[in-house]
Amino acid sequence: MTINTKVEEAGFSPASRISAIGVSEILKIGARAQAMKRDGKPVIILGAGEPDFDTPDHIKRAATAAMLRGETKYTALDGTPELKAAIRKKFARENELSYEQDEITVATGAKQVLFNAMMATLDPGDEVIIPTPYWTSYSDIVEIAEGKPVLIACDAKAGFRLQAEQLEAAITPRTRWVMLNSPSNPSGAAYSADDYRPLLDVLLKHPHVWLLVDDMYEHIVYDEFRFVTPAALEPRLKNRTLTVNGVSKAYAMTGWRIGYAGGPRALIKAMAVVQSQSTSCPSSISQAAAVEALTGPQDFLKERTESFKRRRDLVVAALNAIDGLDCRVPEGAFYTFSGCSGVLGKTTPGGQRIETDRDFCAYLLEGAHVAVVPGSAFGLSPFFRISYATSEAELREALARIAKACADLH
Ligand SMILES: Cc1ncc(COP(=O)(O)O)c(C=O)c1O
Repeated sequence: MTINTKVEEAGFSPASRISAIGVSEILKIGARAQAMKRDGKPVIILGAGEPDFDTPDHIKRAATAAMLRGETKYTALDGTPELKAAIRKKFARENELSYEQDEITVATGAKQVLFNAMMATLDPGDEVIIPTPYWTSYSDIVEIAEGKPVLIACDAKAGFRLQAEQLEAAITPRTRWVMLNSPSNPSGAAYSADDYRPLLDVLLKHPHVWLLVDDMYEHIVYDEFRFVTPAALEPRLKNRTLTVNGVSKAYAMTGWRIGYAGGPRALIKAMAVVQSQSTSCPSSISQAAAVEALTGPQDFLKERTESFKRRRDLVVAALNAIDGLDCRVPEGAFYTFSGCSGVLGKTTPGGQRIETDRDFCAYLLEGAHVAVVPGSAFGLSPFFRISYATSEAELREALARIAKACADLH
């Protein structure tokens, strides 16, 4: 970890539990891009992990109404009864999953759900299997909880999806969890029922291994892809599956900080212990807004997904027209994860050799003023992630610049 030297000089040393955790590459690139913008450079940032839409007005109104009703106090520890009821209905309506009220937890973002789950279950050295490319918070959270992330590379040929043989080979007596994310940040790859089946069969053979599924991008799927979640597909695994979701991406509510999960009662109870001594409860006002998100009109979800699909098609087509880049068509989320092996070994007009995806992304930022994130930040190279949650006009301009930057390489 890069600790601020001034702090070190002041005699500070961090706890060993955070010593392995790096400063996020995404944040570093974002900070550099913002600094360039402040210097007047026309930088286009394709790094954001959030929708460019606003939270719908009916959801904002529900928050205002909650405030005016005086719902401004601490709530029940892991979610108001109203929100838990709305989440149970959501799971039944959209996922054919039936949970009791005490099998539901609500936290300050899905990130806190993951954090609570790992803190509540991992002993030092317990292993957590994480397919890469992955959302890097997974391994960081496991490390903070003193567990051991076991990263498994899933390449583009396998659709960036974990294969049954890989899972089988990675399981040891110390394996506590497998974490799956569909559709994925950063690859946009999603698991169909057929993709999940062999993995679930492996898990059935290993009763000590629990499954955490992150369904955060469930509503953002394209081309008739049918979203499914493992606890519904394989009821025999439901008593050791934590189904994580949230309102951040589907309802454009990243700042409201509400995530939730359904899972076995004993686990949910243990997670509440962690939450009780960290945040006490999620924001009362945000919980009221989330009730409206989950129970109010849902028709805008389809419209927004159609808008994302247009942008996905635009970006994938433009990337695949560039010599040296190779982009798989993602099933969901709002990211492309494009191969860039064809540009490695080339030299920039400034005379720098591009050896890695990190070099390539640095060249795009400095030379073309487009900020994208290298695959290395997500545990798989040589790739780079584009977040296309921005206007079509900006995307067109950014892709024209990337095309020119690639053509300028020799
Ligand atoms: C795959 C994935 N899971 C979870 C989260 C966290 O969401 P929340 O805003 O609910 O903490 C993100 C946010 O980027 C994500 O990409």
